[in-house]
Amino acid sequence: MSKGTGFAKTILFGEHFVVHGTHAIGASLSTELNVTLSPAEELRLSIPTGKIVLEATRKILDSFGLHDNYYVEIETQIPSGAGMGWSAAYSVALARAAANAQNLFLDWRRIAEYAYIGEKVFHGNPSGIDNTLSSRRGAILFRKGEDPIPIELKNPLNIVIVHTRKMGITKELVEGVAKLRKARPDFFLDLMKKEEALIVEAKKCLEKGNLLRIGELMDINQGYLVQLGVSTPELEEVVSVARKNGALGAKITGAGGGGCAIALTKGKKEAKSLAEDIDKKYLVFEAQIG
Ligand code: PMV
Repeated sequence: MSKGTGFAKTILFGEHFVVHGTHAIGASLSTELNVTLSPAEELRLSIPTGKIVLEATRKILDSFGLHDNYYVEIETQIPSGAGMGWSAAYSVALARAAANAQNLFLDWRRIAEYAYIGEKVFHGNPSGIDNTLSSRRGAILFRKGEDPIPIELKNPLNIVIVHTRKMGITKELVEGVAKLRKARPDFFLDLMKKEEALIVEAKKCLEKGNLLRIGELMDINQGYLVQLGVSTPELEEVVSVARKNGALGAKITGAGGGGCAIALTKGKKEAKSLAEDIDKKYLVFEAQIG
């Protein structure tokens, strides 16, 4: 029997654009996904999942030379299809368990590489940000194919994560954005430039602890995501309720099309009170980053 852990994550800035080459900023969350791997007659998971999870599981295990069958026990509070990184946390946890099964001591970079094999099955053309965030703690500046740069936050960020209870299918949303890029290249490149400039500023604000501006930049980033067509009426509602109830800024986190929005608050107390103001039809998580 061997075990492995992966973390939930949140993307603060740059989802979707990161697939096309901009930077993005994200952080791991303390919520974990734990996997226990034990030999079995057939490849089987402890929770009901689609074929795609089994396919990703087989690929990750095969990449470690583990061609036998296993029972994979999964324990987590991370909702799937919500933009909180279920698939990445699962791929990371499984890669760690597979490495442990072979007494391999791999650092987070190697684990993230193995987890990327799973992410490709889940998402088709992943940027690699999710598996990177799920494999290590802290906030990072990420760019596809480059070593992530850790970001030292001046102050912790208190955020409220709101799950619309609708699933967003990352693969389809990423494909939709790629189609938009093809159909309107000038419009898309202009948005990419604006997003990159926003991220450069956001990193500085995070390091200086300029919460007000970070909130404004989240609002601006949400506007760009709306232009990409990945927002939904529910996400718009959450973002607008959050802003009306004192959030410093709010936006989609992850692929959108359902899934989650995040709202930044001034402090812990404000996060608690905002969480209470959100309609009970949504699922709310409070988190602290940094
Ligand atoms: O799968 P999600 O919802 O956590 O989103 C992943 C982030 C994207 O930028 C949309 C895709 C990617 O691979 O970077």
